[in-house]
Amino acid sequence: MNNRFLIGMPGCGKSTVAAVFDWKYDEQVYDTDDCIVSKHGEISKIFEEYGEEYFREIETEVIKQLNDIEYDCFISVGGGAVLREENVRIMKSDGNKIIYLRTKLSTLEERLKNDTTRPLLKGDLKKRLNKLFAERSAIYEGVADIIVDTDGLTPEQIFENISTELRGIK
Ligand code: S3P
Repeated sequence: MNNRFLIGMPGCGKSTVAAVFDWKYDEQVYDTDDCIVSKHGEISKIFEEYGEEYFREIETEVIKQLNDIEYDCFISVGGGAVLREENVRIMKSDGNKIIYLRTKLSTLEERLKNDTTRPLLKGDLKKRLNKLFAERSAIYEGVADIIVDTDGLTPEQIFENISTELRGIK
């Protein structure tokens, strides 16, 4: 498989950039959160009723299923997907590539200040975001084949930068 996986913090623009790939390239684009919601309902409800571990199980199942599709896909994964070794192993298997959308904490904070959909950010947004950022930044950088900085760029510009980088490592 030669799938492309988009990773990064909540609010880094993974879904928006994936949508650009959809209309510019007519690629097969998937979003793991969307797949989970369409099959199991709202993510905040899943966390509330069954807990984070259950959500992570479903997330891994979805990543496996998408990776096994017969054609190459562009897959945006939830911000916490890199926390499981199994997910990283799948995302790094065969000819797959992982693209990290790196975004400054201040930008994420600004984008997410009115968000109510992400269970891990409920409560003190700044504190929670800081914690996730501190825990995950090195992991994102460590697993990525490509790192694209997104601050101040439009989704189209980010798309162009990713495309250029991907051509460079083919
Ligand atoms: C999560 C991020 C969310 C979603 C879930 C858990 C996380 O996706 O998968 O709420 O652990 O960071 P986004 O990264 O698209 O917000």
